[in-house]
Amino acid sequence: MTIIVAKPGEVQFPKGLEGAIARETTKGYVDGKQGKLYYHGISIEELAEHSTYEEVFYLLMYDKLPSKEELSILDMRMRQYREIPDAVYEFIKDRASGYNVHPMSVLRTAVSMLAPFDDASEEQSMAAAEREAIKITSRMATITAAIGRARRGLAPIHPDFNLPHAANFLYMYLGEEQDDFMNRLMDVLLILHADHGCNASTFATLVVVSTLADMYSGVVGGISALKGPLHGGANERAMAMLDEIGDEENAEAWILDAIAKKKKIMGFGHRVYKAYDPRARILHSYAEEITRRAGTEHWLRIASIIERVMIEKLGAKGIFPNVDFYSGTVMSSMGVERKLFTPIFATGRVAGWTAHAVEQLKDNRIYRPRFIYVGPVNVAYTPIDER
Ligand code: SDX
Repeated sequence: MTIIVAKPGEVQFPKGLEGAIARETTKGYVDGKQGKLYYHGISIEELAEHSTYEEVFYLLMYDKLPSKEELSILDMRMRQYREIPDAVYEFIKDRASGYNVHPMSVLRTAVSMLAPFDDASEEQSMAAAEREAIKITSRMATITAAIGRARRGLAPIHPDFNLPHAANFLYMYLGEEQDDFMNRLMDVLLILHADHGCNASTFATLVVVSTLADMYSGVVGGISALKGPLHGGANERAMAMLDEIGDEENAEAWILDAIAKKKKIMGFGHRVYKAYDPRARILHSYAEEITRRAGTEHWLRIASIIERVMIEKLGAKGIFPNVDFYSGTVMSSMGVERKLFTPIFATGRVAGWTAHAVEQLKDNRIYRPRFIYVGPVNVAYTPIDER
């Protein structure tokens, strides 16, 4: 029997639902002890080396790698959905460059705006859910790129239907087609961010769609959760830390002082990984080339010192680099402004949010946990004149 009335602290329970099981899934598996990540059983290292974002989206959605024909159909469907309504471009142009407006607020609102323009957004069927998932996953890239350009006072660049998803994002954001290395690195960034078990933003999406709200509402829930600095926003703050340190001569003293003050170091630690985050290792392998190209090697030298000292001092506690530690250095060196890091994280993670949402709908039960009530009971109502 679940105790629901108790004295404060009388009943022990895991804060933040730590370790609580939300549902069974066949999508992503995070082995926190070994520092391994699998999408439907395939390691993230293999996928980062051989796959594409479109193929990973298919794998997460349909629990199998697609045949050439299946992949080409998904690819064409994503390309046909790329464009967004003029009103959404207008909103982005008008608001995204506003002082102190966080791009995740613009992304959240722009995705929400898509729904009233989509006649099929309220359809309740599995086919509709999958179709909306593909639409939103495709359009997140267009919206994020338009936000990035509006923040620099630049007009949006409309999608190029001849480019693959990642290459098209860079084209729309940077204003011209990029070379193979940049396009491959963008594809890997989206693959690495596509899914990660029952993280806060995926769980938020699941709670929303479990009420049979539409897929747009579910994704807006995910974007809202990812906006927080303890979840999606750490990459931006990790870069600010590298900037504050300035150069490698200061790095060791800075991090030793921060550890002594028990500061939370952005880009380190993880609720599940108590080993090196495999995504950080993959990004680190690309960081040498992209920082050499950009002349930003000093960031990598500082980051390497921070990593060494953090592992020396806190590795025994299971504190290692997570995906956010190197993603900032990589994206900055690609020419991405920091405020766009988390919208790009969302542009990758939307594949996981929507794949889990479809899985939830296949075997749905509304999420409704309970509180333990520790307030007063049997309290009489006191009329206001007597208070
Ligand atoms: C993401 O869930 C996911 O899968 C998320 C994600 C995904 O792909 O969706 O992987 C993406 O969110 C990565 C994490 C990005 N956030 C950060 O880098 C922010 C900095 N990290 C911390 O805030 C923290 O590590 C969390 C929030 C990520 C996890 O924290 P937990 O599991 O709640 O751990 P905790 O805060 O209870 O800390 C346990 C101990 C504490 O020390 P003690 O009080 O026991 O002595 O570890 C210490 C903490 O002080 N600790 C850190 C630390 N993280 C934990 N100490 C220094 N720096 C850190 N970053």
